[in-house]
Amino acid sequence: MSSLKSIKAPIKNEIKEFEQVFKNSMRSNVPLLNIVTNYILKTKGKQIRPIFVFLSAKLHGAITQSTYNAATLVELMHTATLVHDDVVDESYQRRGFFSINALWKNKISVLIGDYLLSKGLLLAVHNKEFDTLQIISDAVREMAEGELLQMEKARKLKTTEEVYFEIIRKKTATLLAACTAAGTKSVNADEKTVEKMRLFGEYVGIAFQIKDDLFDYQSDNKTGKPSGNDIQEKKMTLPLIYSLNKSNGNIRRSIKKIISKHNNDSKKVQEIIDFVQNSGGIQYAEEKMKEYQTLALNILKEFPENQARESLFELVDFVIERKK
Ligand code: IPE
Ligand code: IPE
Ligand code: MG
Ligand code: MG
Repeated sequence: MSSLKSIKAPIKNEIKEFEQVFKNSMRSNVPLLNIVTNYILKTKGKQIRPIFVFLSAKLHGAITQSTYNAATLVELMHTATLVHDDVVDESYQRRGFFSINALWKNKISVLIGDYLLSKGLLLAVHNKEFDTLQIISDAVREMAEGELLQMEKARKLKTTEEVYFEIIRKKTATLLAACTAAGTKSVNADEKTVEKMRLFGEYVGIAFQIKDDLFDYQSDNKTGKPSGNDIQEKKMTLPLIYSLNKSNGNIRRSIKKIISKHNNDSKKVQEIIDFVQNSGGIQYAEEKMKEYQTLALNILKEFPENQARESLFELVDFVIERKK
């Protein structure tokens, strides 16, 4: 598997510049805000979304100021939604460190998320990036819808494979799709190309979330996020949905009972993890993930070869094979 570092090679200078712009975009005169945003910058993630923006742009033309704006906007939105997500999921680890809610509690986390969201919107408005603003605002709306749909299903303990795919498309894939679409649009590519690249991002995003959901079943995962948190939050993801579907009524009832009544008992949660591992749920989810990987790669193959395309191929593989 290629490393992120080698994948970023064609856009090395752009990423360097982006990091500075991203840092400046969070600055505030309120000391508490700066303390928290400095912490966020210190514990930065993989920055996979800006990488998708820059590589998509470079695949179709020469990177512009709009490309930088799109990359910054998208990472601000992503960061804001993660801060909120950890509140919603009551999750206390992120990127190998304490989450914002673990350190500063929910009240401050909600406001930090709002602040980052507004800074993203302002950045787009100040630079008159209305196309990018439209694409990314749509994605953020869908993310909120996806998270709420997931919550509704978690309460009823009722999720089908079809609903699962709708949830992950909304909560994760649309933002990845926004990255590839906005990046492509930022170099003035034609609408047909933008739409193809949007779909490419959507497929990658679905594979990305299946991978994330698989991490939750891996006891020694290296993501810097807790395992078993999804079950604790009654989130039924693909490995579990598949395993439940193919088991008999008695087993199904006993598993659902654990999820609804003993979701905070780590021993019982481990029982579910074992059940899923023994029912082929992990393999099934991996197969599905690879199906989306293939769909994504097939789109990419339609475009002329260049360095950015090579990196995008590697980036798709990275999404599937990554350890964090
Ligand atoms: C985490 O995304 C949220 C999901 C959509 C699963 P990333 O794994 O890209 O998070 P960071 O930014 O690298 O921490
Ligand atoms: C993805 O869902 C998060 C967002 C789309 C905001 P998860 O809740 O599975 O993400 P992680 O695992 O906490 O990063
Ligand atoms: Mg979460
Ligand atoms: Mg997760």
